[in-house]
Amino acid sequence: MRIDIITCLPRLLESPFSDSILLRAQKKGLVEVCVHDLRKYSTDKHKKVDDYAYGGGAGMVMMIEPIVTCLRALQAERQYDEVIYMSPDGERFSQRMANELSMKKNLIILCGHYKGVDERVREHFVTREISIGDYVLSGGELAAAVVSDAVIRLLPGVLSDETSALTDSFQDDLVAPPVYTRPAEFEGIKVPDILLSGHEQKIEEWRFKQSVARTKNRRPDLLR
Ligand code: ADE
Repeated sequence: MRIDIITCLPRLLESPFSDSILLRAQKKGLVEVCVHDLRKYSTDKHKKVDDYAYGGGAGMVMMIEPIVTCLRALQAERQYDEVIYMSPDGERFSQRMANELSMKKNLIILCGHYKGVDERVREHFVTREISIGDYVLSGGELAAAVVSDAVIRLLPGVLSDETSALTDSFQDDLVAPPVYTRPAEFEGIKVPDILLSGHEQKIEEWRFKQSVARTKNRRPDLLR
């Protein structure tokens, strides 16, 4: 898989991809993440990428020209499955959407800033808009990193234990069961006996029951 992220603040996207699982996934050649600085596609002598909104009002708008120049340069190189625009008024991101995106080959993610991008970009060049929640971030970069992380960890071979993404919260519309590690007792607080019993099947049943109970308690909306 290849993910191309277009941003006017590329430094914001340096660290999420340079450590741990996401770094390892790139080193193993399972994903290629390319961050593109939108300013490089500006024809303006000051490398401007935003301008005042037509009709007035506070806040700058990201200009169509550098964005389309960048999109066309990428699209001349390969076919993209989606051009995603990160926006608080997009479709709400979910595990289901992460699963779906993880099956794609090439994705472009466009990060908005200021008041957002010129509407003509959204109308004519973007294929999908995604929000990571009902709150407004100062830009789309952190949201793009969230989406990329959730997608990349699902790619085959990224997680060392192949089953581990399958037992994540939300994979079956259930939240994950509680987990414990050593010591078996800390200041009198014990790990549930069942987990020390060695009965694999009983442990699985216990975990499933815990997941259902937790989901009812914490996220009844998931149970429909
Ligand atoms: N850009 C600003 N806020 C955002 C959000 N909640 N989701 C996606 N992109 C955003």
